[in-house]
Amino acid sequence: MKATNRDAGGLSTTTGGQRPGYIWRGYMLDEARHFFGKDTVKRTLDHMAAHGLNVFHWHLTDDQAWRLDVPGFPELVKYGAIRPGSPYYGEDHSFDGVPYGPFFYTPDDVREIVGYANERGIMVVPEIDLPGHVGALLAAHPEFSCLGEAYGRTPYCKFGICDDVLCLGNDEAVAWCERLLEAVMELFPGEYLHIGGDEAPTKRWEKCDKCRARMRELGLAEPRQLQNWFTRRIVGFVSSCGRRAVGWDEIIEGGELPPGTIVQCWRDVKYAIRAAEAGLDVIMSPVFQTYLSIPEGLEDDPYRYRGWVMESNRRITSASLRAFDPRAQIPEELHKRILGAECCSWTEVTKTPAELEYKAFGRLAAFGAAFSNKGHRKTVC
Ligand code: ACM
Ligand code: ZN
Repeated sequence: MKATNRDAGGLSTTTGGQRPGYIWRGYMLDEARHFFGKDTVKRTLDHMAAHGLNVFHWHLTDDQAWRLDVPGFPELVKYGAIRPGSPYYGEDHSFDGVPYGPFFYTPDDVREIVGYANERGIMVVPEIDLPGHVGALLAAHPEFSCLGEAYGRTPYCKFGICDDVLCLGNDEAVAWCERLLEAVMELFPGEYLHIGGDEAPTKRWEKCDKCRARMRELGLAEPRQLQNWFTRRIVGFVSSCGRRAVGWDEIIEGGELPPGTIVQCWRDVKYAIRAAEAGLDVIMSPVFQTYLSIPEGLEDDPYRYRGWVMESNRRITSASLRAFDPRAQIPEELHKRILGAECCSWTEVTKTPAELEYKAFGRLAAFGAAFSNKGHRKTVC
């Protein structure tokens, strides 16, 4: 493992260099569903720094696109960074038929962004989402799906979750993931790598001869345990490279995880509690409190949101973010496991930089303020 430069990747427990607090004060940007580009990312980093946020979680891969040109893996952007169209700007899953891309970041772009972030006290944590949300990866490597070549050569062009996931019975696919992640870690000097793990349907694994053979060989009764086997292998690989793996809270289902794994809780606080009770560190991103793809509810908001969100009447306001407490509902003895929190911009229906900034920037400022009130910093100088 050659990647080093840990200096640029450590996390500060201070905001503005003085006041101790949560070490993880993050923002996640999904650039797979829509791509915003370097200038927007830099403006975002400036804004984060101004509001005391110190982790930029970069969601670069998903069903709908692959946005990172990883040295040695040119096929990923060749097939994964362009799609023949996008779901219509609504939720009816119709297809607009307008080619989108190719859009992706080169290794030089990554170095520029990581340097820019580090100068502002921000660590960049890339996310390579595995073993689900891999529709774009499978466009480059259909042979790594349970369906084989029948998967086809384009990313998944609908909203929602693609049934096609990585074939975990395929030894070459699993070994390839490790080589890929090693190359990603060479590009990103920070201590943490996000390995995704969310929303992986088990439908294909249940029917696949290779996956079923793997389950038999390992004595696994449930397909979810197959994901746990894969996660443990990937987490182990990441730690053998001197890094720590972070995954969405689905990774705690199906079995135990190696010590040191970090769980990002988005669905329900019970998963944060379960992870913390197992001795794992936790980042809080509860969907109905921190997902900036849920509207603020401003009267003059000109933009679209997902239909289900509008129907649910859920709102996340600057005031609610200012009041957000990452440790709420978590038993006091587990508080030490809560590293901090992250707001997330999922961008299925967020298309332009102006729209992204409208939806995110005001509320990110309020989120930054959440770390400086109500005694969240235990010792204020
Ligand atoms: C997620 O919202 N799928 C992490
Ligand atoms: Zn399979």
